[in-house]
Amino acid sequence: MPTSVEDYDRWYRTPRGAWIGGVERRLVAGMAARRAGESALDVGCGTGYFTEPLARAGGTVVGVDRSLEALDHARRHRGAGAMFVAADARSLPFPDRAFGLVVSITALCFVDDERAALAELLRVARRRVVLGLLNRASVLHRTHGAGGGRGGYRGARWHTVGEARALFDDLPAGSIDVRTAVADPDGGAWARLLDRRRSARDGGRGAFIAVSADRR
Ligand SMILES: C[S@@+](CC[C@H](N)C(=O)[O-])C[C@H]1O[C@@H](n2cnc3c(N)ncnc32)[C@H](O)[C@@H]1O
Repeated sequence: MPTSVEDYDRWYRTPRGAWIGGVERRLVAGMAARRAGESALDVGCGTGYFTEPLARAGGTVVGVDRSLEALDHARRHRGAGAMFVAADARSLPFPDRAFGLVVSITALCFVDDERAALAELLRVARRRVVLGLLNRASVLHRTHGAGGGRGGYRGARWHTVGEARALFDDLPAGSIDVRTAVADPDGGAWARLLDRRRSARDGGRGAFIAVSADRR
């Protein structure tokens, strides 16, 4: 996490961060279509923002991250119903098909070898993997991603919708669905209206790319 853990998590409590986070959580939950009691793993969970709703729904929920500081924050603030474990996304300490659902939200963008990490996510998934990525063809990339990026986006790898889909090439995955959200990232009234009106299946210019794929 290229900014401090406290600052990163505080952003989710700003009006803009709460709106963007809420839109992303709903999109991820819809694409995950988690089954009752299904186990779930959140890879690159950071402070546990996306682990929290998984834990609230019950079942075994594990968050992994390589940052001990982020995990400590997650345990203190989002520990209810979830276990948080230190691990590298490229070498997960779980058996094959250990979790029904595996999610990884804006984490592969920071992993050196994203394809190796994605192969690991698929290895430990039994039913579905959902990724959250950053869209290079978005307004957010122009304002926060260009030239190496700034704030929490510094050092991130940005994808196009096509690149996001192609990440799964030759991996044991099918039924790939790609959607985007947060077309206007300023979080104002116009942005909110725009996001409610546009189809979630636009394959377009939203800053947040969500990809779901079923494990084959
Ligand atoms: C931008 S944060 C996203 C955190 C959380 N998923 C969220 O959306 O709020 C990226 C996270 O990926 C983690 N990360 C980066 N490389 C990793 C790796 N190789 N293995 C595990 N975690 C990694 C970082 O420590 C950081 O917590």
